[in-house]
Amino acid sequence: MDPANKAHRLAILLSGRGSNFLAIANSIREGRLPSAEIAVVISNVADAGGLQAAADLGLPHQLIVSKGRPRADHDAEVITCLQSHRVGLVCLAGYMRLLSPEFIAAFPNKIINIHPSLLPAFPGLEAQRQAFDYGVKVAGCTVHFVDEHLDHGPIILQRAIPVLESDDAHSLSQRILVEEHQAYTEAIARIVSGDYEIRGRRFVPCTKL
Ligand code: GAR
Repeated sequence: MDPANKAHRLAILLSGRGSNFLAIANSIREGRLPSAEIAVVISNVADAGGLQAAADLGLPHQLIVSKGRPRADHDAEVITCLQSHRVGLVCLAGYMRLLSPEFIAAFPNKIINIHPSLLPAFPGLEAQRQAFDYGVKVAGCTVHFVDEHLDHGPIILQRAIPVLESDDAHSLSQRILVEEHQAYTEAIARIVSGDYEIRGRRFVPCTKL
């Protein structure tokens, strides 16, 4: 991909504490994502810890409250914000909302999400608890492209961990989160490199990877 391409300008969309956002920010600061920068952090929730963290880091940040608004209206405002910051890649990081078709269409194959399960198992809320309660022996996380369905688009990468006898849902979530923080950086690096194709649902790395 052309280095001048705006795909390297990232937006982070979040609703909560923002640990995945901070992991991405750390990766950029420490040189693991040399051709990426965070153009803007957007939260739909006023008291999201991740929004405050963005402010503390001096990053452009924006609160666009979703509660009580039609999805299309809210998403239109988010799209305008993303375009004004010349964003090329939208990274959902604990952004607990489905995106409207208009949002998906505005950034085709340029919206990615992290989910704390090995999709297609356990989409939706509290995926780690769903997996633990189901009794799986292997859990993990998935980074995937976003489409209009919940936790559904083509998979970029997954990381798996064993479920230990000593685990409870909390400890399992904590260990998955460690994997998430590494997986998100790795997935962004692959997207930013441009060295991939999407064939149907398959994310296929090209020569350099
Ligand atoms: C993460 O575990 C992320 O995978 C999950 O929300 C958490 C956000 O944590 N996302 C989803 O469940 C999306 N369906 P963070 O705010 O510390 O990054």
